[in-house]
Amino acid sequence: MLDYETEAARYDETRGGVPRAEAAAAAVLRLLPPGTRTLVDVACGTGLVTERLARPGLTVYGADAAHAMLRTAAGRLPGRAVRADARHLPLPDASVDAVSAIWLLHLVPFTGRIVAEAARVLRPGGVLVATVDKDTAHDVGSDIDAVLRPHRAPDSGSDRAGLVTAHAVAHGLTPAPGTSFTGHGQGATPRGTAEKLRRGYYASWFHGTPATVDRLTTALAALPDQDRPRDAPDYRLALFVKR
Ligand SMILES: C[S@@+](CC[C@H](N)C(=O)[O-])C[C@H]1O[C@@H](n2cnc3c(N)ncnc32)[C@H](O)[C@@H]1O
Repeated sequence: MLDYETEAARYDETRGGVPRAEAAAAAVLRLLPPGTRTLVDVACGTGLVTERLARPGLTVYGADAAHAMLRTAAGRLPGRAVRADARHLPLPDASVDAVSAIWLLHLVPFTGRIVAEAARVLRPGGVLVATVDKDTAHDVGSDIDAVLRPHRAPDSGSDRAGLVTAHAVAHGLTPAPGTSFTGHGQGATPRGTAEKLRRGYYASWFHGTPATVDRLTTALAALPDQDRPRDAPDYRLALFVKR
């Protein structure tokens, strides 16, 4: 996982800023049942998405494990940003109406524990909203994807929909139709992709040797328009309802 303590300073500007945050927040809000009064946004990061979830009658809290991310979130969510690991939320059982987790599950090797913790704090009828299949969303059919796709390990991704659903069902959550949002500003460039490949950023799904990395970075460097972003990905949001 990236070190979010150092990533915090450049996080918002490199993750699509306000347009991406607005799209993500609007998608989460579309999935909340009428009457939702409390929402905990786990892994809230800098709170850029979280602050856009607040509505009259809906109290929104942010929780994150990284001090530096949370410092920014605290400015955006005064008194409602808490340092907490998503596996151990400082909340009683069945105490909240909704939990959201945007761009979290693809990062961790303990998806099941996060889903279980969300299920614990949700009241019956409450909902978990979580991004799934984040890394495959980046495969938008571009020339960059054509280079990388043969090296995507099958069944990779700790946020793959099937895995998240299996954990959800095991913890008393029923799947319901989800939605998606546009990852504004997240379209890949050939140069940026080659750099990320060299830095091991794609380790969760990349299947290949160091020699493969050399070959693919050469292929990426040969693509036209090295700094032109390809299409923005469409990120899936899954919805689960507590029984
Ligand atoms: C990609 S960022 C997403 C932030 C925010 N949800 C957004 O969409 O902008 C991932 C965040 O997950 C947090 N994180 C990673 N593991 C965590 C855990 N076990 N518990 C709580 N937060 C965690 C990181 O500190 C980071 O802020």
